[in-house]
Amino acid sequence: MPEFADVIPLSLYVHVPWCVRKCPYCDFNSHGLKDELPENDYIDALLVDLEAECAALQSTAVESVFIGGGTPSLLSPEAVARLIEGIGDRLELAPGCEITLEANPGTAEAGRFVGFRQAGITRLSIGVQSFDDRLLAAIGRIHDGREARAAAEMAKAADFDSFNLDLMYALPGQSLAQAHSDIESALELEPTHLSYYQLTLEPNTLFFRHPPKLPAEEVAWRMSQQGIEALQARGYARYEVSAFAQSGYECRHNLNYWRFGDYAGIGAGAHGKLTDLRRGEVARSLKQRHPRAYLEAARNRRFDRKREVVPQNNLPLEFMMNALRLINGFDLALFSNRSGIPLGKISRALAEAESKGMVEIRDGVLRPTTLGIRFLDDLLLLFAPKTEPRHTSGGLPCVPPGDGLISLGDP
Ligand SMILES: C[S@@+](CC[C@H](N)C(=O)[O-])C[C@H]1O[C@@H](n2cnc3c(N)ncnc32)[C@H](O)[C@@H]1O
Ligand code: SF4
Repeated sequence: MPEFADVIPLSLYVHVPWCVRKCPYCDFNSHGLKDELPENDYIDALLVDLEAECAALQSTAVESVFIGGGTPSLLSPEAVARLIEGIGDRLELAPGCEITLEANPGTAEAGRFVGFRQAGITRLSIGVQSFDDRLLAAIGRIHDGREARAAAEMAKAADFDSFNLDLMYALPGQSLAQAHSDIESALELEPTHLSYYQLTLEPNTLFFRHPPKLPAEEVAWRMSQQGIEALQARGYARYEVSAFAQSGYECRHNLNYWRFGDYAGIGAGAHGKLTDLRRGEVARSLKQRHPRAYLEAARNRRFDRKREVVPQNNLPLEFMMNALRLINGFDLALFSNRSGIPLGKISRALAEAESKGMVEIRDGVLRPTTLGIRFLDDLLLLFAPKTEPRHTSGGLPCVPPGDGLISLGDP
């Protein structure tokens, strides 16, 4: 019998698939804007999509909402207000519900952030990447260091409950000193949260086809270590492989992903993961990727959900791909609560991980060790299905969208 918990926490992910220009390293479902953004049609489509999702939900109370992209800060505050109102009409937002919006500094006009705050956004996540003009140009960003600083200052002044800065390291031609200086610049802006990602070359990107010269892996490792030390020295706890927060400012939405909670996904190319407690199964879904196809689907009220049940033998790997990213680990009971699988089924893999020094288990809590975090891919292999095919759910990703997505290559 499946051993699921009675209630699995639910979040909502909203995808906005447009950017001013496509960055050469980015494999998100994002499309450079050629004409004006069809924001009214898109908000209508999102709400039709949500309506259809609600029919499949066993509970409609959500703990968090994440409006990610692409570049959601391209939307006007009025459109964001209509979206949040529409979500509130269809779902029950838990008290203190965290509502994040991702922003690109190049789209941070004065007044826009204040408008987002008034529209109900509680947490802003700004993709600054670096403060160095030459490095920003090398990775094809639309903004410079001054605009990155200005965006963070505006976020601070707009008085969000929490604001995050995304920084990347191991950029083309970046030195250790430059990486250090980016961290120092970020800290001066006093974000409550910081995501620190190693630049990875993803298939289907310009950088993958024409790779720039990146710092050696050993240098990248030292960059990550010096970053971790500097952040910890200033009171930011590393609570996930790439995520750092002042106490109490951890991203609740991403924590729900990492704890293998549920999420409905609306928008072009949005992923969802929902547990059907009645049938005792976990299923993933994926919407039409292309914005045009998605808008067309909304007009016809025929969304392509591409629902796929995760095979039982893939669930341990899918669970661990998320939960082992948590630096402080997790209560082992969570495994059965979220996967429905008895803990005994993975006892051999757990014992092997422990004997290899990759995890520690104490008082029912499992924690990845420094070695386990550094060689996370090797650790995860222990939980992969032992019989062929050795892959995850039908090509749908195991790691969710959001600001903690890209970092299996991270130290
Ligand atoms: C959807 S974007 C954030 C908002 C906005 N689109 C922007 O770029 O400013 C999410 C974050 O993922 C990170 N990211 C994207 N592609 C990456 C890659 N190839 N390697 C490492 N991090 C990446 C960046 O830090 C980026 O800010
Ligand atoms: S990194 Fe952000 S701004 Fe650049 S293309 Fe990707 S989603 Fe758009």
